[in-house]
Amino acid sequence: MKRVDDFRLRLGKKELLPIVVGGTGVDISTAELALEAARLGGIGHISDAMVPTVSDRRFNTKYVKNKLRQYKYNVANTEKAVVKFDLGLLAEATALHVGRTMEAKRGDGMIFANCMEKLTMNAPRETLRARLKAALDHGIDGITLAAGLHLGSFALIEDHPRFRDVKLGIIVSSLRALTLFLKKSARTGRLPDYVVIEGPLAGGHLGFGMDWAAYDLAKIFIEIREWMKAEHLEIPLIPAGGIFTGSDAVAFMEMGAAAVQVATRFTVSKECGLPEKVQQEYFKASESDIEVNTISPTGYPMRMLKNSPAIGAGIRPNCEAFGYLLDSNGSCQYIEAYNREVALHPHAKKIHVMDKTCLCTHMRNFDCWTCGHYTYRLKDTTRRNDDGSYRLLSAEHIFRDYQFSTDNKIALPD
Ligand SMILES: Cc1cc2nc3c(=O)[nH]c(=O)nc-3n(C[C@H](O)[C@H](O)[C@H](O)COP(=O)(O)O)c2cc1C
Repeated sequence: MKRVDDFRLRLGKKELLPIVVGGTGVDISTAELALEAARLGGIGHISDAMVPTVSDRRFNTKYVKNKLRQYKYNVANTEKAVVKFDLGLLAEATALHVGRTMEAKRGDGMIFANCMEKLTMNAPRETLRARLKAALDHGIDGITLAAGLHLGSFALIEDHPRFRDVKLGIIVSSLRALTLFLKKSARTGRLPDYVVIEGPLAGGHLGFGMDWAAYDLAKIFIEIREWMKAEHLEIPLIPAGGIFTGSDAVAFMEMGAAAVQVATRFTVSKECGLPEKVQQEYFKASESDIEVNTISPTGYPMRMLKNSPAIGAGIRPNCEAFGYLLDSNGSCQYIEAYNREVALHPHAKKIHVMDKTCLCTHMRNFDCWTCGHYTYRLKDTTRRNDDGSYRLLSAEHIFRDYQFSTDNKIALPD
């Protein structure tokens, strides 16, 4: 019986264990978690979502405070178009986050950045280019272009000296998205080095509509694999979403996957950025406690625990401090929803916004408990403490379990 350890992922000259720990923003996949995956010979992701905010927490910088001070005069204004990111400071924050992580890297694996392109930051092209360039300048091994896949992203960095040597990958949820991207980036003469195929059971934002349950990762994987064969394309395919055991992973490897991308199992690792109180909520969750909803102002459905404090909260938009989701016109669906509720309840002390959430604030505060579909199985991956709480796992334990387990077994900690 095969184990994940019987397979290897080849990326150029590099040979890796075929386990990719997916990017989970905002700072849920911490540098510590990514570094562990790399040390163990796989691939770990840091996330470039809200990097100035993450840098403040990680390095005690003051990007958020200073931006809020600069735009304080606009806080009560419903119009947010004036709130811009300083590209130099954005590059500086990315340099710190990426640079320090890469300096700390040990072992044979790699560290990639998950770049959430839906963070339009009131200037989509310029801010994306600044983030990508700074990550390349500071030694990132690879970049995975995620949510909101910008078809022209390769072109934004084609002049960079590392453009041809850094590993570049994309996340897609359909053959259509893949073919559109390949067509658009053909002009740069560069194919992605890997393609993550993310199915409907993943955490975070989904590349499907609210009919996500009608889709199946294995079917999408096979459709893409067959198309690639017909086109004589050899790009490593990496399925993601609901791969919960080593045996799940082996099943995909035997179907031709080059590696698997996983995240949910690592949300209850000690190295994960979620506060332990939140991790206990993940452990406790049953299947009926998890939903896919449309409260994300990005417009993409998102999976989360139903008791996430972000749901129904009605805080004033925090764009002067954050503002990562402002589109190219300086608007965000949450601002519209919030302003509507304020107009409907002009005398209310506290308002509730049910249809959208201030994702920047709630992701920053770990109050939007996004999770994968199989979060309800996490309780079966550990033991309980005397007080009834669940024991956190080391990232190494989870990684090794994927690497060596057979028969759908999950190794409990000693
Ligand atoms: C808590 C959480 C946050 C996530 N955030 C992101 C993100 O910021 N960007 C992204 O591309 N994918 C994100 N994902 C998706 C993962 O990177 C990964 O592809 C997927 O969840 C794998 O499926 P699994 O969680 O069932 O193992 C997130 C997943 C989880 C569980």
